[in-house]
Amino acid sequence: ELDVVRQLWTKEDVSRTLPIRRASSHKGEHGRGLLVGGSYQMPGAITLAANAAVSSGIGLLTTAIPSSILKIVANRVPESMFLPFSEDDTTELENRVDDFDAIAAGPGLGRSDRTKQIVKKLLREVKGPLILDADALYFLPELQNDMKARSSPLILTPHVGEMARLTMETVETVNRRRFFIARDFAIANQCYLVLKGPFTIVTTPTGDQYVNTTGNATLARGGTGDLLTGMILSFVSQLVDIGEAMMNAVYLHGLAADIALRENGSSQAIRTSEILHYLPLAFRSIT
Ligand code: APR
Ligand code: MG
Repeated sequence: ELDVVRQLWTKEDVSRTLPIRRASSHKGEHGRGLLVGGSYQMPGAITLAANAAVSSGIGLLTTAIPSSILKIVANRVPESMFLPFSEDDTTELENRVDDFDAIAAGPGLGRSDRTKQIVKKLLREVKGPLILDADALYFLPELQNDMKARSSPLILTPHVGEMARLTMETVETVNRRRFFIARDFAIANQCYLVLKGPFTIVTTPTGDQYVNTTGNATLARGGTGDLLTGMILSFVSQLVDIGEAMMNAVYLHGLAADIALRENGSSQAIRTSEILHYLPLAFRSIT
């Protein structure tokens, strides 16, 4: 029998573990993160993720995107540096992976062979924490050997549909046995797992599980998962405990949506990018 922790992550837990900015802090102490994503059809997902990262404390963000969308994305995230890569040659991206404290990939990346190639390289070559979301999860069933061979931290952030694909279960089964399936997968693959949805479950490689209580149906719209990926990158880059970083990101992401709902009175007309505007209030309410 496994002796595992299963508990709620509370506001007190967040304020106890959130990275602090000392009066003498400089940007280098708040993490250098690389965010990889975007495609000609989906420039928005990576834009949302990058904005969420820079709005949640990261010291320095670099965003790697196909050159074809550099102008549209760069124009909307002035705080980020950029690493444009060409459609058929990603060596420039691969050569830079050692320059960052953490790397996140997936938002809007698309499901092309290029995505598979990038994910394979990242799994093999990233020595720090690697966060995979959305389209970066799509090829993982084919890249299981590379995933299992990895010794540095791997963080996966599937929604229920993506989790079903990762485990070859049906969506119904994942929904019915979320705790068990999440723990089983995290232990078997020695990864951190964020199984998203109402009451998101964060599982560590040892099988400890934390349940989030913030968030509401305002988040049931496209792109909100991309915001979460940017926030996770921000916190993980700051070299805190990875489980704590993930829980804090999930908690504050949901809290921003809770404040957005309270301030607007209805969840209908709040767009994903607007949820970001409530992050400062979310941070304020836990300090
Ligand atoms: N209550 C609370 N939280 C919710 C609710 C709800 N009813 N609905 C959604 N959420 C939260 C989830 O917990 C998660 O944090 O909103 C976020 C949704 O994330 P995703 O499901 O990844 O949605 P999205 O951002 O649209 O994904 C973008 O990536 O996962 C792929 O197929 C997806 O291509 C799409 C892209
Ligand atoms: Mg998603």
